Amino acid sequence: MSKTKTTFFCQNCGAQAAKWIGKCPSCNEWNTYVEEVLHKESKNDRLQLFSSNKNPKNTSNKSILLQEVGLQDFPRIAVPGKELTRVLGGGIVPGSLVLFGGEPGIGKSTLMLQLALRLKNLKILYVSGEESEQQIKMRAERIGVTTDSCFILQETNTQNIFQQISEIQPQLVILDSIQTLHTSYVDSSPGSVSQVRECAAEFLRFAKETNTPVFMIGHITKEGSLAGPKVLEHMVDTVLQFEGDRNHIYRLLRATKNRFGNTNEMGIYEMNGDGLREVNNPSEILITNRENATSGVAISATMEGNRPMLIETQALVSSAAYGTPQRSSTGFDLRRLSMLLAVLEKRCGFKLGIKDVFINIAGGIRVEDPGIDLALVCAILSSNEDLPIPQTICFAAEVGLTGEIRPVSRIEQRIMEAEKLGFEKILVSSFNLKGLNTKNFKIEVIAVSKMEEAFSVLFG
Ligand code: TYD
Ligand code: MG
Repeated sequence: MSKTKTTFFCQNCGAQAAKWIGKCPSCNEWNTYVEEVLHKESKNDRLQLFSSNKNPKNTSNKSILLQEVGLQDFPRIAVPGKELTRVLGGGIVPGSLVLFGGEPGIGKSTLMLQLALRLKNLKILYVSGEESEQQIKMRAERIGVTTDSCFILQETNTQNIFQQISEIQPQLVILDSIQTLHTSYVDSSPGSVSQVRECAAEFLRFAKETNTPVFMIGHITKEGSLAGPKVLEHMVDTVLQFEGDRNHIYRLLRATKNRFGNTNEMGIYEMNGDGLREVNNPSEILITNRENATSGVAISATMEGNRPMLIETQALVSSAAYGTPQRSSTGFDLRRLSMLLAVLEKRCGFKLGIKDVFINIAGGIRVEDPGIDLALVCAILSSNEDLPIPQTICFAAEVGLTGEIRPVSRIEQRIMEAEKLGFEKILVSSFNLKGLNTKNFKIEVIAVSKMEEAFSVLFG
């Protein structure tokens, strides 16, 4: 009889150790090591899992000249909807393993089911370890699309799933979710690091050997990283993140890793009563149409990937009610906000150290583009002075530590988007003017190099 073999795994990052350790040497988290039983069988058993599937590859590969590698055999699978297509880098790559993460209730299952329902000419297997067939049916009815090529399987054991796969021979597999699956070859409980990793590894082998794309839904921990092991992220080809504020209707789809495309791309969805709807014109939605200009509001021309987007930034500055002033920010990095406030205080002489400052990016969206800086700073000052910024002005520039206005990427696209939406003036950095013919635009491009110049343009 073989001895039971156990190993300790860090539940946070997936690192492995022979003994229990208090602090994980790889991710520095405390008390995350858990003993898990490994029940090993001979490797050959495992290889037969899906070898009944059509044309399994030979185990040994020959080397081949790069120029002789043909791509035409595997065209990407076109997916319905521009947003998902763009984020995936132009459709689903056959044999790719995609990890789709997001907080609970954000709409992961909805988006995947929608994908399954709308890919009508493809045989799809939707494996759910979380919901019953009836629940999925109810959701499908809510979405209101019918299809006759989507199979639903309520199962959590991977061996049974592979059996179904070899029966149905699906062209796309969706797993909801990887944390609920378990393989009989590992003895620890579902959701533990070794289970999640082993299940993912089985599907990775399946995807590569049969050239079937697999989507795995994964849960997110409260710190915001994909739950379970970080190793999952290394294993898969693409990591998609679904984010957004659950109290808002907008959801952002980002690729944080993509072996087949650009990771800067972003897709926007709107959660409605009948599922997720794509938002193709985000700028028009994210800006509130007010009758009168209010103080503390500034519009920024930002870029998300290759897409220009106009976003409303809001600031509220008030006298601190308690001794310690509060700084709070929704949708913008708090440390960067502190830096901008320090610049305003030190370089421009505004006494904000004794004020509460609240920042909000409209629509529950998170912005990482530094091109939003100038709009944010202007919104803060507008609120501080209680002077509204004219609604016809928008901004696209970064603010440096010395109070200088720095250039941003793809300025032309930003200006064109602002022009398209009817803005009359845009403030940019004067360093951005090189090679830019401002006469081409109807919108007035105002170049500034220092914060003081920007303020005098706005408030005289
Ligand atoms: P769900 O896809 O179950 O989230 P996840 O799989 O990420 O946990 O989505 C859950 C939320 O979406 C739920 O709170 C209800 C809402 N929802 C709608 O608003 N409209 C819809 O058509 C559907 C299907 C869900
Ligand atoms: Mg779900």
